[in-house]
Amino acid sequence: MYQNPDVVAQRVFVREHLALQPGEKVIDVGAGPGLLALEMANEVGSQGQVIALDPSEDMRAIANQRCDGTNWITVTEGDATALPAADASLDAVVATQVFEYVPDMPLALEECLRVLKPGGRILALDTDWDSAVVNTQHRERMAMMIEAWRPHFYHANLPGRLPSLIRDAGFEMTFMGGTPVVNASLDKNTYAGDVIFTIAKFAERKGGVAPAVCAAWLKELTDLDADGQFFFSITRFLFLAIKPN
Ligand SMILES: C[S@@+](CC[C@H](N)C(=O)[O-])C[C@H]1O[C@@H](n2cnc3c(N)ncnc32)[C@H](O)[C@@H]1O
Repeated sequence: MYQNPDVVAQRVFVREHLALQPGEKVIDVGAGPGLLALEMANEVGSQGQVIALDPSEDMRAIANQRCDGTNWITVTEGDATALPAADASLDAVVATQVFEYVPDMPLALEECLRVLKPGGRILALDTDWDSAVVNTQHRERMAMMIEAWRPHFYHANLPGRLPSLIRDAGFEMTFMGGTPVVNASLDKNTYAGDVIFTIAKFAERKGGVAPAVCAAWLKELTDLDADGQFFFSITRFLFLAIKPN
């Protein structure tokens, strides 16, 4: 999923806005499988430093394998609310698709501010599930399935609140933007081709939706796909801010 073209393009969008320079020090909060960490390591070079933090042992194992041999990346266990870095020691903090899982966002942002040097930047990218657009003849069922998916996140609609959270933490916002995923196919090589099936499983197992309803939802989408009428879009919002001097 992290390697499909939609997510690859998202990382390009993130790196373009973060604009890391050789020698900079950055922490990737919730680094997951380490793809962005490795790309950022190539940008900062061996004089720089990348800390790839993740609480998940499974994710760290994948990141460690991927980053093996790039000795200016440190893969480490940790949480967004307790960053393993000294005060004012880093040039950048990046968290992509992570803050939506972090219950105490004011504390996480306080930590980001603490570890950044004056003038250092924070980049946060998160999805708002109210931005989902899906072609369907059954709008109520679609809304029910998206609603059943919301508990997968701690905040399924964080972007609308992030600007004030970031400013209240003491940052100066420098850029806000969005990058939509747009898929016209349920092909396995698309984001939709993964997330739609994940939503169906989650809605049935944890969202309290009857198996027959989940199956009917999937059937509509796969039938639309077979007819060339499938359409899915969701927007990820990017916020870039600096720690004032
Ligand atoms: C959807 S993945 C995103 C991974 C990566 N940032 C990317 O964009 O490819 C979310 C990641 O956040 C991590 N995560 C969840 N809760 C976290 C927390 N409280 N602090 C830091 N990371 C967390 C998960 O373990 C997971 O690897």
